[in-house]
Amino acid sequence: MTEVLRPDAVDAAIAVLKNGGTLAFPTETVYGLGADATQGDAVARVFAAKNRPAFNPLIVHLADADRMDSLADPTPAARSLARAFWPGPLSLVLPLRPDSPVASLVTAGLDSIALRVPDHALARRLLAAFPNGIAAPSANPSGRISATRADHVLIGLEGRIDAVIDGGATQAGLESTIVDVTGPAPTILRLGAVTAEAIAAILGTEPERRLSADKPDAPGQMKAHYAPAKPLRMNAHSPEPGETMLGFGPVTGALSLSERGDLAEAAARLFDCLHRLDRGPSKAIAVAPIPDYGLGQAINDRLRRASYRPSGTREGT
Ligand code: TXA
Ligand code: MG
Repeated sequence: MTEVLRPDAVDAAIAVLKNGGTLAFPTETVYGLGADATQGDAVARVFAAKNRPAFNPLIVHLADADRMDSLADPTPAARSLARAFWPGPLSLVLPLRPDSPVASLVTAGLDSIALRVPDHALARRLLAAFPNGIAAPSANPSGRISATRADHVLIGLEGRIDAVIDGGATQAGLESTIVDVTGPAPTILRLGAVTAEAIAAILGTEPERRLSADKPDAPGQMKAHYAPAKPLRMNAHSPEPGETMLGFGPVTGALSLSERGDLAEAAARLFDCLHRLDRGPSKAIAVAPIPDYGLGQAINDRLRRASYRPSGTREGT
């Protein structure tokens, strides 16, 4: 059952998120499907509800720009853009702080993080209760159009999410513009409600464009995905010499994605486990079989991209 909350039920909406639930809420662009950004299991349930076939990193929404520095290390260009457009429909991809409390599933294990401060009173009342932000993709099933009203959210996600807070129709109806400001050349990843001209005017230079994030439901095209440096073998029941085993359910290992065989827990732990095994002493990583349904499909997609063929060539990009 998905609970429909009235716009003044902000405390109830906050409680849903604090308890690790999923809540759809309005922003000035489209409705987002939120989870507390620090709770990996809750973030995993966002992917499950949307039926995303892979882990595409999520935008973390903040109540105000001051919070940016506890999650990211903003470059000077990032600060200028934040000052000019926040609150507003601009998402900035920034270098992730190593000590950021955000769950690794939010960033899909990347060393960057997308942040934005929405220009929406109800959203900001919710966000004020989450100093480390609410991670939220658009509140639509994967491959469908974004929701600009609470009833659109329900058409797509009724019964799959805990609650939606009905704040009426959103204004922009178009998602935020995404600009990568991790490097020296600011780069537009998705065109949206803030125009390229407006961004160029603030930067004093024409931003580059790499519009892969225009296809948020084709995340395989995102080159930036974290991949372990070590070879990785899937569907392993035991390690071969030189391999460290990553277990799941009854298949045990040096680490386990989820000893109880829970896919949400496995999704939440995936990138942390890969990072740890990548830094460890072994030459290679072997991963237990993961059932190929629900979140298991996204986990397997991620593992396939990180895996190698016997010939030694990597699959995918
Ligand atoms: O207007 C919006 O941006 C809405 C509202 C809810 O805020 N959100 C939204 O989220 O459209 P979503 O998940 O549908 O699209 C987010 C896009 C994805 O294409 C993802 O690849 C990109 O942002 N993204 C997030 N973090 C990234 C990162 N660290 N590096 C590159 N791209 C990133
Ligand atoms: Mg989307």
